[in-house]
Amino acid sequence: MRINWSCCHLVSTQDLLQIVGVRRFHTSTRQLTNSALPRHQEVSREDRSNTDEWTNITSTIERLTHRKLLGNPAHPLSILTDIIFSKFPEQEYTRANFPNPRVSVYENFESLNITSDHVSRSKTDTYYLNKDRVLRTHTSAHQVESFRDHPTPGFLIAADVYRRDEIDKTHYPAFHQMEGGRWWSPRGTSSVKELVAKINEDTAKIPVSETKIIDDTLSFHDGNPKQDGQHPEVCIAVANHLKRTLEMVVGNIFENIVVGDPSAPKEPLQIRWIDATFPFTSPSWEMEVYWQGGWLELFGCGVTQQRVFDRAGYPERVGWAFGLGLERLAMVLFGIPDIRLFWSEDPRFVEQFTPGVVSSFKPFSKYPGTYRDFAFWLKEGTIPEAFHDNDLMDIVREAAADLVESVKLIDKFTHPNTKRNSLCYRVLFQSMERTLQNDEINVLQDSIRDSLTIKFGVELR
Ligand code: DAH
Repeated sequence: MRINWSCCHLVSTQDLLQIVGVRRFHTSTRQLTNSALPRHQEVSREDRSNTDEWTNITSTIERLTHRKLLGNPAHPLSILTDIIFSKFPEQEYTRANFPNPRVSVYENFESLNITSDHVSRSKTDTYYLNKDRVLRTHTSAHQVESFRDHPTPGFLIAADVYRRDEIDKTHYPAFHQMEGGRWWSPRGTSSVKELVAKINEDTAKIPVSETKIIDDTLSFHDGNPKQDGQHPEVCIAVANHLKRTLEMVVGNIFENIVVGDPSAPKEPLQIRWIDATFPFTSPSWEMEVYWQGGWLELFGCGVTQQRVFDRAGYPERVGWAFGLGLERLAMVLFGIPDIRLFWSEDPRFVEQFTPGVVSSFKPFSKYPGTYRDFAFWLKEGTIPEAFHDNDLMDIVREAAADLVESVKLIDKFTHPNTKRNSLCYRVLFQSMERTLQNDEINVLQDSIRDSLTIKFGVELR
């Protein structure tokens, strides 16, 4: 595979620092029962007809689930996926494919210790097909079956994931993640010492990164504890293998990028580790890379919770897992300035990339945008917080799909006499592909206004 690393960088680090990627989860203490993991299913007629009060998937999102961007080897997200995959030895890591983003609530949340009171499970954050099934919000949804099913001690997954989110240049309700995991079994070893020696032997085989690494984190401490029952030396050995693996991958990718003027002296790459919290790992960390003046969060990762291995049917195993948002890295590497472009079907986007090659995105002309404001009174007695931004985001997407660049709340007030609450959102209509006509925007505007009235009973102002 030939890799051409030349690229230009149009996205500011500030934008990228906010882009979709790894979401922080809080630890929870509730125990979950070990129920059988349902087999992965294709889109079923059942999902279509089995709707209930939880159903909030829209037809726009449903359409995105069929796009399969990773099926096109010339798409920047596939090119990046292949590059990252190529850093992991094939005999050690199975590449697993999960084309269907519809998973059970068990797979997406419960199998990972994410309890029912966790904010990420709310209807405002997640697309529900019905109370039992969701569009996966992260590739971690496949951890248990991946730890269970593969013949190798490691696995890698790249797939589309979905989250209800705001609309701007770096947020899109569908994006892509990569998940990886690695395990060891004490079987065949007679003591902790031997298991630790085996893990360390594997660590020694990882090519050492030249990159400057800042690691002030401890292997574990009270705020980022090892798991009860896990031997401290085993935890340290697993953590080392995890950190060296990800440092090797990121070092390899970033050190090969020509930043700006290729003849200018290269700034040394810096990577840092910080403590994190996820319900399915302990201890946990995030890896950040210093990129054009700011720290960019890349991976969430950690030592896999023993209960995940229990659910996979291998309670004796130990190991690690990581998750990475692909769009963020692809925007940096290819210089892609707007996340909507990944979904563009315009030949000027689609035809400019070649499998195996990281090339700089050649922008096509920027078409002018037009603002429209949507101001309305909420139903009497409703507090502004009862209307969630993401409710409007989905209405806007249903009406205008990718013709919207951003949606922002610009005003919120309570009438002094009537005490009614008013909200005003500003929507920027802009196409990546052509100039939008006023008449066309008026139709979109009307449709958004109608939906607001019908679905939320608001009074337009
Ligand atoms: N699934 C997490 C997210 O989307 C990322 C993540 C964190 C994945 C830690 C992991 C992990 O496998 O071990 O935010």
